[in-house]
Amino acid sequence: MKKAWFKWAALGAPALIVAGCATYPDQATTRQIAEKMVSDSFTAPAPALLKRLQQDRSQQICSKIGGAPLTQEEAAEVVRLARASIKYPASGQLVGDWKRGDKLAHEGAGDRIQGGRLEKRKENGALCQNCHALAPGEFNVGNVGPSLTGYGLQRGNSAAIAKLTYERIYNAWAYAPCSNMPRLGATGHLTPEQITHLVAYLIDPQSPINRK
Ligand code: HEC
Repeated sequence: MKKAWFKWAALGAPALIVAGCATYPDQATTRQIAEKMVSDSFTAPAPALLKRLQQDRSQQICSKIGGAPLTQEEAAEVVRLARASIKYPASGQLVGDWKRGDKLAHEGAGDRIQGGRLEKRKENGALCQNCHALAPGEFNVGNVGPSLTGYGLQRGNSAAIAKLTYERIYNAWAYAPCSNMPRLGATGHLTPEQITHLVAYLIDPQSPINRK
């Protein structure tokens, strides 16, 4: 009797596991269910919030289920879309006022969701401080991104560095596809002019970030 039970268990257990797995939805369905759960959780969404729930093509590529690594083709597509998104200021001048950049880098207000509504401000902050170390001696900084302390001291302030820095802030995915750096210009959070001030903050020799 005991023996028979073991036999069934041995045969039955794998069958049960297979049956169990077969009832799980596939990846596409799992994604649909998850996205519906997120959108349903906004009971009275403002149009601007609803727009945020729609993933663009790059975000869809970047949020592969299970965090699978990007294929070369996918990475290339994210970079191509990011490059195509970059707009430059009408003045053509990529280096603005480092003092205004300093303020923006430490200012977090704008585009936040408060009480189910989207915060509107005259000017959005950039809050680089949340993820990056900035001027030497600042303690209240994040470490999600690499330290930017001495950014200009290390790289100089040539036109090529200004352009690279502008593009990285406008759409970081042009250089690091699917990174955790927000696409600050491409999403409309920052204007091209604001980004020129941030470029100045990073590369101007007078900026506190380059203090020796
Ligand atoms: C949510 C976190 C986050 C925020 C906010 C953020 N960054 Fe980043 N940043 C990152 C990460 C992660 C990287 C590394 C991957 C990459 O390059 O995209 C990075 C990379 C960079 C680089 C390239 C660094 C290098 O060594 O070449 C620059 C420049 C930069 N960020 C500037 C900024 C500025 C300026 C702001 C504010 C306008 C900002 N970042 C806001 C996360 C962030």
